[in-house]
Amino acid sequence: MPSDTTNQTPYYVTTPIYYVNDRPHIGHCYTTLIADVAARAQRLVGRDVFFLTGTDEHAEKVSKTAAENAKTPYEWATINAERFRDAFRFMNFSNDDFVRTTEDRHKDKASAYIEQLLDQGDIELGDYEGWYDPSQEEYLTEIVAKENDYKSPVTGKPLEKRVEQNYFFRLDKYQDWLEQQITSGEISVLPEARKNEVLGRLKQGLMKVPVSRRIKEGDADWGIRMPGDDAHRIYVWIEALCNYLTIVDTDERKKYWDGEVVHLMAKDIIWFHAIIWPAMLHALGKEPPRTVYAHAYWIAEGTKMSKSLGNFIEIDLLRAYAEKYSLDAVRWFLTTQGPLGANDADFAHSRFIEVYNADLANSVGNSMSRVGNMVHKYYNGIIPGTCNGEFGFPNGSSLQTALKALENAGKAVDDPTRTFRFAEFTSNATDNALRALETVDLESMLDSGRSIVRHVDEFISYCAPFTLAKQLDALDDGDHALTSILYSCAEALRIASLLLSPAMPEKMAELWRNWSCSHLADPNNANSGFVAPLAELARWGGEYSIKKGQQIAKGDALFMRADASEPAPEPAPEPERIG
Ligand code: MSP
Repeated sequence: MPSDTTNQTPYYVTTPIYYVNDRPHIGHCYTTLIADVAARAQRLVGRDVFFLTGTDEHAEKVSKTAAENAKTPYEWATINAERFRDAFRFMNFSNDDFVRTTEDRHKDKASAYIEQLLDQGDIELGDYEGWYDPSQEEYLTEIVAKENDYKSPVTGKPLEKRVEQNYFFRLDKYQDWLEQQITSGEISVLPEARKNEVLGRLKQGLMKVPVSRRIKEGDADWGIRMPGDDAHRIYVWIEALCNYLTIVDTDERKKYWDGEVVHLMAKDIIWFHAIIWPAMLHALGKEPPRTVYAHAYWIAEGTKMSKSLGNFIEIDLLRAYAEKYSLDAVRWFLTTQGPLGANDADFAHSRFIEVYNADLANSVGNSMSRVGNMVHKYYNGIIPGTCNGEFGFPNGSSLQTALKALENAGKAVDDPTRTFRFAEFTSNATDNALRALETVDLESMLDSGRSIVRHVDEFISYCAPFTLAKQLDALDDGDHALTSILYSCAEALRIASLLLSPAMPEKMAELWRNWSCSHLADPNNANSGFVAPLAELARWGGEYSIKKGQQIAKGDALFMRADASEPAPEPAPEPERIG
């Protein structure tokens, strides 16, 4: 079932909540970035959006690292939760809330859900023996443990055989229901490769899953107690999953759970999100998520990132890149070159420079400043007239004139029958962007914006307004031709800027300031930040279009060209006040 990008169904997008044993790195920033881009895009479409991220604090590894750092678990969690908050503010994420699982608003409701499952008999006490991955805090099935040579599939550390008396969630009861939901697409597991993997594993059969940990002597007092049994703590994973519901389980926010729920994460934790969590929700009598989207991994300069190699791309390095090339360039690179699909993606400096120059300095930025400069030079920075965007070269009389002028200047075009129907082109690009958004295909969504920029570039090369400008006096309606051309370029770029804005909100707002388009943004509209939905904003020549007489300031280039021979930025130190 496609996502609803035409009407007002609320949209609820989440990221995993991150462990606070350590600092944020590119992986955490990436998932939260794509959630941000999706949230901003959906707000632009006109939907009521809620975007949640946060931190997962009750893990054993949090209390362990806290002890190593001579802090209480809560102190350590707070230090790192602040680091995540800081990193996310720096990345300009527009999350509507930030949950910490140590907050009462989460703990109380999570506990209540578990109690309900206990009362219903969906959770029961029993013995459990299994392969435990201490680094990931999860049990693995015999098959998965064997496949990985009894080592953690994520960290490669040895698995431990553990036997414990535990509470179990009767996941096995939901096998048929889950198969039906995922196969039919009621729960849309994306990308397709991940859906097949999940269904394959589902076919091996489901077991009961442990949902508690027996408290041992010497354990830190950390985590939520099992309702009615103080000897156990709720297993951190089960409690953490509940965050998606606890935070919107209020009168004002419940509309988001009733709307379209989209969980984003990496492939490492898809099983929890596509299988265990939907089954828990079903048992609780709640709707499952609409989409479970699991992207692949970032690797660094061709190598998998790991603690032992010490090659994690930390937030400090992203700060250094942002300092040098702008934050929106970093957001652009990560969103368009990231592991959104099934394949891993490499963060390599040379690639960053290549993409920065090709997409931003030489394309988006260059096109926008070229058009601004021409309006400035030929019309003192005032848009001289409009153009309905329906013309093609053979028919539009003013463009016939342009062709004649180019011929006079000895620069006749190769193909005089070529058409540039901007109104249609921009409207198709907007439709494509909306369609891509339905499957969280943010790369295609942004490429729709870029396709308009490419079209404008081709148009400028084709009808050479700078040549035409020199021929104006010799032509009857030459002025009209130049007006039509420049208007078309500016209006097309305005529409492109809307489609690019979810990834580059600051740079596009800068363009709007330079081009007197700030009326598109509405600071009083707390949800979207826009005055109207995309369909209206992006209408060629419509209410929000560029108008005759509008001022277009020259402005600085949005993206300066980068020199590939310069050394890669070095990580800047973290701000002092932390730690
Ligand atoms: N706390 C759990 C999640 C609970 S959600 C109810 C957890 N936390 S984590 O800190 O380990 O974060 C894992 C997530 O971070 C991944 O699913 C992904 O979103 C992100 N990434 C971590 N490393 C990554 C890469 N190398 N590349 C891309 N994203 C990765 O698991």
